[in-house]
Parts: sequence; structure tokens; C-alpha cells
Amino acid sequence: MENDKNCITVSQLRINYGTTRAVDGISFDVKYGRVFGFLGPNGAGKTTTINVLTTLIRPTSGNVQIFGKEIMKHAKEIKGRIGVVLQEPSFEGNVTVEKSLDLYGLMWGVPGERRRDKARELLEQFDLVEVQSMKNDELSIGQRRRVQVAREFMHNMDLLFLDEPTVGLDPAARRMLLDYIKRHVNGGLTVFFTTHIMDEVEYLCDDIAIINKGKIIATDTPAGLKQKYGSIKAVEIKLKDAVAESIMDMLRQMTGDQSVIEVTAKDTIRISSRDAQELLVRTIEALARTGTQLENVSISPPTLEEVFLTVVNGTKSSF
Ligand SMILES: Nc1ncnc2c1ncn2[C@@H]1O[C@H](COP(=O)(O)OP(=O)(O)OP(=O)(O)O)[C@@H](O)[C@H]1O
Ligand SMILES: [Mg+2]
Repeated sequence: MENDKNCITVSQLRINYGTTRAVDGISFDVKYGRVFGFLGPNGAGKTTTINVLTTLIRPTSGNVQIFGKEIMKHAKEIKGRIGVVLQEPSFEGNVTVEKSLDLYGLMWGVPGERRRDKARELLEQFDLVEVQSMKNDELSIGQRRRVQVAREFMHNMDLLFLDEPTVGLDPAARRMLLDYIKRHVNGGLTVFFTTHIMDEVEYLCDDIAIINKGKIIATDTPAGLKQKYGSIKAVEIKLKDAVAESIMDMLRQMTGDQSVIEVTAKDTIRISSRDAQELLVRTIEALARTGTQLENVSISPPTLEEVFLTVVNGTKSSF
């Protein structure tokens, strides 16, 4: 059966909160052994979807299968095989880091010796040895997030949901976490991952879906998405003896909302647009009129972030 390849199959899922259509008829599959990036702006419906997929809330309508089984009918069995790191942290503030890992293992029925070994390994992996005797309440935000992710690995699972797990992590901790996840995926784990950081998506995700206002507006691989929107190009303009900020107003007027403009250095501006070439010509003309000189100009493929912003800004229909 084709579904055997899918760890998660979602069809026509709708979730309403009163009259708010938080999730508005979405369908997608997540394949076994892959990292699925579920992306979208604030309020798009990511957490709401995760809440249904992890059986925390009931959908308004639609069908969700996990491990080939309907979630509502097999909630208990499915729950026993998944891990969840929620966006909203939940904590026993008065318990030490060491103890909270142990309690988690106990909850999952991990035997004593294994529990101690696993906790020791996780404390080391997540760089928590120094704070192991501190109470959760005494930790910094990033340390708390690390404990929250680490404790989920106390038990074996087939599918892990991570709702913005890297928020608050410093660059080293972030990289450590992504690499730790990668190793588990190589060992067979399937991961459902949300983040707002497109570098993380490029580093970790095999497949992505972009959700906006409760609807899925793109599904692809990161590379495929960049290729699909290949008509977008990024133009980088480096000014000679002028500050980038001084020409921003003019550029914004020239480009409208179809483009993403960013000041990347004091004297450099990057514009990603479908009409990059034409825009470049017009910019050069406009700069010449004001007597601004150029140091360097280049055109390059867009980053995933630029593609994401363009897709979400609603220009998709014009491709
Ligand atoms: N408990 C709730 N009651 C009513 N409306 C809710 C509730 N939870 C979420 N919503 C609404 O549902 C929509 C989707 O919210 P959701 O939390 O799923 O977004 P998200 O994509 O996870 O956003 P973020 O990136 O900010 O985490 C929003 O419009 C939000 O206001
Ligand atoms: Mg959310």
C-alpha cells in the first residue's frame, strides 16, 4: 500500500476555534525517516496542526493517519510512539535538571539503569552537565529549552514533533541540536519540525510545506522550492561613497511589495524580485540621475528566506 511509505497522512484537515478558521482544509504527507519542515508566518496554523497531530485537540473535520492508523481511534498507541516538544514550555520549576530527565524516563517506563545512562548521555550531549543540579526555575531561557528537548529523547520514539525547538538557543547549542536530530533521523526517526529560521530549514529539512492563513501554499524540497521560484533573482548593489539607507525610500517606491529589499551592509542593498534585471536597469538609471556611484553589482539565485517571503507575500499566483 502506498500509505505504508507515509508516516503521516493528512487530508482535508480543518480546525476552527469558534468562528476562526485556524486550519482551513490542508492535505499533506510526511514520509518515514525524513525531516518535514512545516513553515509559515505567525498565526498561520502550525501549532494548531501539531496539537491535532499529537492528539491534544480534536479536529473540526478531515482525516489524519499516523503510522497508517486513524489518530482518534488509535490515540493511545500512537501517543506511545511519538515525542512532542511543544512551543509553550511546560515545567516542573522546583525540580532539578537531572531529576526532571529521570522523571521523564520513569514516566515512559525506562528501566532504572538505562534511565541513568540515558540521562548522563543527554546531559553531556545538550551541554547541561554544569547545570544538572540546578532547578528548572533557575535556568536561563536557552538552558530550559535544551532541557525540554533533551528530556524528550529519554524514550525511544518513531516520530518526533518539534515546535520551534531552537528559539532562545545560542548558535553553538542550535547547531548541536540540529546535528543531534540529524543523527537520529539517520537512525530511522521521522521528524516534524517548525522554525522561522530558513538556514535551519536548509540544513535539516528534506521536505517542506508552507502554510499561510490556514492553507498550504507550497510543498516541495528546499532545493525544489528555490528552483520553482528560480525566476526570482537577488540583485546586490554596493554603493560607492554612499550609505545604503539613503536610497531605500526610492527603491521601495520603485519596487512595490513584489520584492524583498534588505540592507546587507552599510553600503550594500540586496533586492530579490521576479523582475530583477529590469529593476537593476531602472535602479542604475535612478542612481545616475542622483549622481550616486556604484562600486559593484551582482545577480545571484535567491536564498530560501527570500523565496519564503515572496511566497508568503502572496505573489505566488503570478508565477
Ligand atoms: N486556543 C485558541 N483559541 C482561539 N484561537 C486560537 C487558539 N489558538 C490559536 N488560535 C488562532 O489560530 C490561528 C493559528 O494559530 P497557531 O498558534 O496555530 O499559529 P502558528 O502558525 O503556530 O503561529 P506562531 O508562528 O506564532 O507560533 C491564529 O489566528 C490564532 O489566533
Ligand atoms: Mg506556533
